[in-house]
Amino acid sequence: MNYRHAFHAGNHADVLKHITLSRLIALLSRKEAPFVCLDSHAGVGLYDLKGDQASRTGEWLEGIARLWDAPDLPELTADYFGVLRALNPDDQLRYYPGSPELARQLTRMQDRVLLNEKHPEDGQLLKDNMRGDRRVAVHLGEGWHVPRALLPVAEKRALLLIDPPFEQADELERCITALNETISRMRQTVVAIWYPIKDERQLKRFYQGLEKSSAPKLLRVELFVHSPDDATRLSGSGLAIANPPWGLEDELNQLLPWLASKLAQSQGDWRLDWLVQEK
Ligand SMILES: C[S@@+](CC[C@H](N)C(=O)[O-])C[C@H]1O[C@@H](n2cnc3c(N)ncnc32)[C@H](O)[C@@H]1O
Repeated sequence: MNYRHAFHAGNHADVLKHITLSRLIALLSRKEAPFVCLDSHAGVGLYDLKGDQASRTGEWLEGIARLWDAPDLPELTADYFGVLRALNPDDQLRYYPGSPELARQLTRMQDRVLLNEKHPEDGQLLKDNMRGDRRVAVHLGEGWHVPRALLPVAEKRALLLIDPPFEQADELERCITALNETISRMRQTVVAIWYPIKDERQLKRFYQGLEKSSAPKLLRVELFVHSPDDATRLSGSGLAIANPPWGLEDELNQLLPWLASKLAQSQGDWRLDWLVQEK
């Protein structure tokens, strides 16, 4: 386990993932009934963009830094920026929230947040960062066991983020297995799988696996910052979202052109379509 998310915190892929996560939580919060946010590969929860690891790559400069002072922030980014502004009250961008901190701050008193991180040091940092909030539980186990270990939940509504490091060749396949296990244990779960857009052949197999999965409906969201022809670099990233709440497609249709224009490097583009249509 060599991957450390601190090197990539706040990059274009994090921006897409975290704005989408903030909208999923907002849309689930329209109903009073509680829900549970689960994160199988949670990271440390909070990142210092001026720290050694993030400074070494500077990826955030082509990500969140491009949005921070934008005069045309869409209203749909207000929740996400609310968390960022709270972490950086002097208006200097330095601290960036990971998915655990976003889930912790954006969920309500009646909701719970269940986090899992396997790396022992990162898991301890995550515990330290989440300390004091009794709605949050941190597990230091195997992320791929999360659906079997933690589902179904008593609340009857759940959102699961699956965000592995993609260090190993079988991780796209494992995402599909985790999706199927989740749906078989709790059919209505909203499952968001993050994936890198790099190797088109591998991705083709992944899309086929998603199409054949047991998800009742599944939306594909992708943001490109380079042309996808070059398999040696990250051209963008995507989220496969099973059971997206009503309204998400419309919101993403508004957000994606803006994100593509702000985050484009050699090129900016996006795609939003259904891989599984509701029957
Ligand atoms: C992409 S990062 C997560 C970022 C986080 N979800 C966010 O958006 O802020 C992936 C994390 O998965 C952890 N990890 C790697 N293999 C794992 C496994 N098998 N089970 C659980 N966590 C794992 C890594 O240590 C890393 O912190």
